[in-house]
Amino acid sequence: MSENNVMVRLEGISKAYGEGEARIQVLKGLDLKVGKGEMLAIVGPSGVGKSTLLHLVGLLDRTDEGLVELDGQDTGTLGGSERARLRNRMLGFVFQHHHLLDELDARDNVALPMRIAGKPASEARRTAEALLDTVGLSSRMTHFPDQLSGGEQQRVAVARALVMRPRLLLADEPTGNLDRAASEGVFRLIRDLHAEENLTSVIVTHNETMAEQCDRIFRLAPAGERSGYVGVS
Ligand SMILES: Nc1ncnc2c1ncn2[C@@H]1O[C@H](COP(=O)(O)OP(=O)(O)OP(=O)(O)O)[C@@H](O)[C@H]1O
Ligand SMILES: [Mg+2]
Repeated sequence: MSENNVMVRLEGISKAYGEGEARIQVLKGLDLKVGKGEMLAIVGPSGVGKSTLLHLVGLLDRTDEGLVELDGQDTGTLGGSERARLRNRMLGFVFQHHHLLDELDARDNVALPMRIAGKPASEARRTAEALLDTVGLSSRMTHFPDQLSGGEQQRVAVARALVMRPRLLLADEPTGNLDRAASEGVFRLIRDLHAEENLTSVIVTHNETMAEQCDRIFRLAPAGERSGYVGVS
């Protein structure tokens, strides 16, 4: 992978939680590169640190040690507001639970990142409507989250993640709460949008079938057992 083609570079990442006897070393000396346009699956046992890793890449948390570089930029040097701005402009997140705001309808949930970025309401709504159409929810624009099925909620969450046209999509078990049919639908949607939007995507999943449909699988092993972090193409 040539250096210009790297979207995410992690070097020597360590992260522990807690103090003293309660201290847990979750990640230790982890290296990972994700190429531009790559769709990477992250798999590993529960508690191994997949979400921790994704939060570090997504600038939701800071490493204890090591480098997190996004498109050549060392994010460790950035302050809180610069990190927040980069998140809003460059990154899209989808979580296992949709994290939609209950008091906003589907359209306003999708439009929210644009409103946060200071875009006019009319433009934000128009863009949200187009995206909801893309994810197959043109007839659900004014439904509230509690009026949507789990699969529909995740489709709204995918639309919201992409409304700012991010370059990097991070998804933490995006289909973890869904039945098989809805799961496959949401995964297919993410895969199609990944290709159409020229995204780089990092998807945490427990589902081997989905992992195998990604370009590469990164298998995370516990920090104590590390000859450890095995990347398999
Ligand atoms: N804020 C926190 N404070 C203390 N410990 C934490 C915190 N967040 C995570 N941990 C611990 O760090 C370890 C890794 O957690 P993480 O959520 O990254 O695992 P995971 O691989 O995503 O697991 P799962 O597949 O169950 O989602 C776990 O042992 C967890 O208990
Ligand atoms: Mg997790």
